[in-house]
Amino acid sequence: MIKTNIVRARLHLLFIPALFFNLISCEKEVSKNNSQSSHHAGLNCMECHNSGEHKFNTAGTVFDTSKVTPLANAIIKLYSEPIEGGKLLETIEVDAYGNFYSPHRINYSKTVYPTVISPSGHKSNMVTGTTSGACNSCHGVTEQPIWIQ
Ligand code: HEC
Ligand code: HEC
Repeated sequence: MIKTNIVRARLHLLFIPALFFNLISCEKEVSKNNSQSSHHAGLNCMECHNSGEHKFNTAGTVFDTSKVTPLANAIIKLYSEPIEGGKLLETIEVDAYGNFYSPHRINYSKTVYPTVISPSGHKSNMVTGTTSGACNSCHGVTEQPIWIQ
């Protein structure tokens, strides 16, 4: 009897660090240059990532000049005013598959102004801004994909 209680106590001790690790890894789920955990380049990520532990607030894909081949390792910057104006709200690194994603709660009820910076230093601004972080819900559907040199 005493023995089984000790075994149970040990199991609990193992479980606690695992729980903390899960909380921390969720917190960190933002794309990084060269990271390779995403998929479905070009699709509207939020069609699936709209709830639960993999819910994104901002996500999409960057393509090269062909507008067909994803471009790795660009940077997305989100501003509160047009053309890099106002406050820098968030910086998101694009991963190895051309995808970017972040769960951070940028307030899209106020218009947000994205800028994309390519690895070769080219820049592209969305001048009119967006009230949705689901970038691929327009880009690649009603608009050309997000692309850069
Ligand atoms: C058709 C549905 C669907 C679409 C569209 C989709 N995903 Fe996912 N994604 C999933 C599911 C389901 C999982 C969970 C898989 C798992 O936990 O093993 C997932 C997991 C992920 C993960 C976590 C992988 C990990 O190792 O924890 C990332 C990052 C991700 N998706 C990024 C994206 C991005 C970026 C897009 C858009 C370009 C996207 N997804 C589009 C369904 C989708
Ligand atoms: C509601 C539809 C819509 C959403 C959502 C959207 N865009 Fe756009 N985007 C547009 C339109 C329309 C233009 C062309 C007009 C302009 O530049 O303002 C554009 C232009 C751009 C451009 C300028 C170059 C180009 O490709 O034409 C970039 C860069 C861009 N968007 C990035 C983003 C990013 C990043 C997001 C997500 C944070 C996003 N967009 C969300 C519709 C959208």
